[in-house]
Amino acid sequence: MIRVNKYNNIVLIGMSGVGKTSIGKYMGSAMNRHFLDTDDIIVTTSGKTISYIFNEYGEKYFRELEKQTIKSLLNCYNKIIATGGGVVLENDNMDMLKKNGIIFFLDGSINTLVNNLKSTLLNDKHRPLLANNNDLSYNLKEMYYKRRNLYISNSDYIIKVDDKPIDIIGEEIIQIYKEISPCSYF
Ligand code: S3P
Repeated sequence: MIRVNKYNNIVLIGMSGVGKTSIGKYMGSAMNRHFLDTDDIIVTTSGKTISYIFNEYGEKYFRELEKQTIKSLLNCYNKIIATGGGVVLENDNMDMLKKNGIIFFLDGSINTLVNNLKSTLLNDKHRPLLANNNDLSYNLKEMYYKRRNLYISNSDYIIKVDDKPIDIIGEEIIQIYKEISPCSYF
């Protein structure tokens, strides 16, 4: 049962490199809505990069910051929210995001993820889990198969992104949102 009202957030979930941030930004301007990225909020509020947080305090601490960030969004409406790839690892995160959000799982093949990520990872301060690895494709595959069921079971809609430009994917989501959202004039 989809929890639709005219103030719903649009929440994008999915693996690193699938395009959550680019698509979210596109949708933010196309729909004239604020775009929020939970990783950016963590960086801004902590004053530290994601890699620094992982390296100095560990993944568990990062996940706690991620959960606090999502909690802080509980009273946000009408936003486009891009999440970190690991957001589904905590049930609480998804329960909070679903309270006022429609969840779109952006699903891309490992090839798509590798292509989108390979040029950015060298100086990446954002994806420590994928840094320093010689076999990006293998690591992404491992991660994807561990998380796939969580992405699927937590999503209201699954959007395939392979071979589609950002604006086409954004428009596809906007179209769905228009169809399900009452009184959505934008
Ligand atoms: C993570 C993905 C990253 C970031 C952190 C952990 C993950 O975000 O939250 O490095 O566990 O998959 P992106 O999905 O934007 O890369």
